Amino acid sequence: MVTGSASGKVILFGEHAVVYGRPAIAVPVAQLQATATVTPASPGYGIALHLPDIGDHVPVTGLATERPLAQVIQHTVKALELSPTPDWTITVHSDIPVASGLGSGAAVATAIVRAMAAAADRKLSPDQVSAIVFEGEKLFHGTPSGIDNTVVAFEQPVWFIRTESAQPFPIAASLSIVIGDSGIASPTSVAVGDVRQAWQNDQEFHDTIFDAISDIVHAARTAMENGDMATLGNLMDLNHRLLQRLKVSSPELNILCDAARAAGALGAKLSGGGRGGNMIALVQSGQEDSVVRALRKAGAVRTITTVVESVPEPVTRPSL
Ligand code: MEV
Repeated sequence: MVTGSASGKVILFGEHAVVYGRPAIAVPVAQLQATATVTPASPGYGIALHLPDIGDHVPVTGLATERPLAQVIQHTVKALELSPTPDWTITVHSDIPVASGLGSGAAVATAIVRAMAAAADRKLSPDQVSAIVFEGEKLFHGTPSGIDNTVVAFEQPVWFIRTESAQPFPIAASLSIVIGDSGIASPTSVAVGDVRQAWQNDQEFHDTIFDAISDIVHAARTAMENGDMATLGNLMDLNHRLLQRLKVSSPELNILCDAARAAGALGAKLSGGGRGGNMIALVQSGQEDSVVRALRKAGAVRTITTVVESVPEPVTRPSL
């Protein structure tokens, strides 16, 4: 029995615009974990995916399937050159809420790839893992930027532009982030598809918003490099307003962001695809509890407090 795991993620700045070539910043969230366990099965069984959390069991071997996780398994079999196909049950558990902007799809897929590599006694680079998971993301999301699979596979804060290699960058001071879950499931593919349709109807308007978001993401990187929390909070508020203009916020997310600000957060915005799912608030160290209480009172069904540790000198891996 061999296990692989992966963290969830939040996007700090730049969601949606990142699909259109603008930069974004995302960080892993270690409190949210998906795990996959490979158990040997009887000869001739092939590979089956067992998802007890949702009561599903999917035979994978020999199946022409569009199911994202089955595709991820088939790509991993190829990447690991597993021939003949092994006889495995792959059991997946995840505490990452689905359809909530926390990278559940990418984390579950990454856990599966890692568990399969470990069961085959092989190593895949983060770049290889990310590329395999991206194949599943395309089926989950239609036109993903690739940011989710990148931040989950590399497990460090990244500056991401879809046509370039992701970059780590220095973060002068650690960031306290409170994540608030609106409790409303909202598949990323729907929000991304709606933005695409709106962009097709009025490219000039949307490109102007994407450019304004891009300016915010650049300014946020500078603020993170300088440890300038007040500016970073303001930039979150501005990014949220632009996401509202893209029509990917919702009354519930707006209420949660307002509540966090009123409780002393330095800034707040939705995170991920939007419409429902999660928002994030930047808080001064020591203010976490009051922001958590305010979010709960304003309707958050769950909150997570996480710290993005400072990164004085980021380690650049060959492919990052
Ligand atoms: C989803 O986590 C982030 C989006 O920008 C979509 C993507 O980048 O693929 C909304």
